[in-house]
Amino acid sequence: MEVPAQDLPPRVRIHEVGARDGLQNEKTVVPTEVKAEFVHRLAAAGLTTIEATSFVHPKWVPQLADAEQLFPQLADVQGAGVALPVLVPNERGLDRAVALGARRIAVFGSATETFARRNLNRTVDESLAMFEPVVARAKDDKVHVRGYLSMCFGDPWEGPVPVHQVVRVAKALMDLGCDELSLGDTIGVATPGHVQALLAQLNEEGVPTSAIGVHFHDTYGQALANTLAALQHGVTTVDASAGGLGGCPYAKSATGNLATEDLVWMLHGLGIETGVDLGLLTATSVWMAERLGRPSPSRTVRALSHKE
Ligand code: HMG
Ligand code: MG
Repeated sequence: MEVPAQDLPPRVRIHEVGARDGLQNEKTVVPTEVKAEFVHRLAAAGLTTIEATSFVHPKWVPQLADAEQLFPQLADVQGAGVALPVLVPNERGLDRAVALGARRIAVFGSATETFARRNLNRTVDESLAMFEPVVARAKDDKVHVRGYLSMCFGDPWEGPVPVHQVVRVAKALMDLGCDELSLGDTIGVATPGHVQALLAQLNEEGVPTSAIGVHFHDTYGQALANTLAALQHGVTTVDASAGGLGGCPYAKSATGNLATEDLVWMLHGLGIETGVDLGLLTATSVWMAERLGRPSPSRTVRALSHKE
């Protein structure tokens, strides 16, 4: 039953990350054709922002080493108006992405030093220096730039991450010229009060809620509660991964992202529009789970695909 709640946005834009954040963490390398079909199915299910792949060093993320082969196979999806952001850590990545016609990129920074070194082989400030020409060149070319910020709540090596530490790097990413910021709970330790405290402090320091998206992993089962807290704060961009695929190869304790189906179930129940057809999306995740050889961890996928 749909029961609209008060003071929540009427519509949420889902930033689908299954093809990137999900598949980058699979032990098996998924064939390019399967990835291409996955993205086509996600688009057919009504998702309008589908993160497609990463133009990172292929040795660092071998699962996405086929970016050059995959991206051209998605030209029809992009042509139909679906946004296909790709991760780009440096100018080499930008060159590769724009050569193939990418119109949206994402740089990805860290709120903590340990993860910055492990994920980018740089300190936090060296990473920001690496992103600076990437964002500047992208803006000159009218390419949309998302700035991811990882470890916004806790870090597996450093423990809880102070809000002021996160706000400093968030502001630095916005000052570089990022169009939007995605707050990553990379290892899934956030709880709703912490989410609201970070959002409030970001607003206090001049980062508007309209520029902020949230990216929750579901390690402790808090991702939906955290999402609701963010919606109550006015956030309207939520990252999620079809079937709950995901994790992070450089943070072993990270489990999958918030499952898109679980998110859609909650949003539709609250009377919030997403444009997503939950039946088509669930069928896509069941199809992908068969290709990966293991069931989807999404409760909603399991409930909706249960046959008896
Ligand atoms: P590095 O080893 O310091 O690279 O890695 P370098 O700058 O010293 O260059 C070394 C060689 O790599 C050079 O080649 C470069 O050309 C080449 P050589 O001259 O020796 O022949 N190279 C590249 N080749 C292809 N594409 C490139 C590229 N860059 C350099 N883009 C680097 C630095 C950033 C490249 C590396 O650390 C890297 O690729 N890291 C990516 C890690 C990654 O993708 N992690 C997962 C995504 S983040 C995430 O999942 C979190 C998120 O979901 C949010 C959340 O949950 O928190 C977003
Ligand atoms: Mg992630």
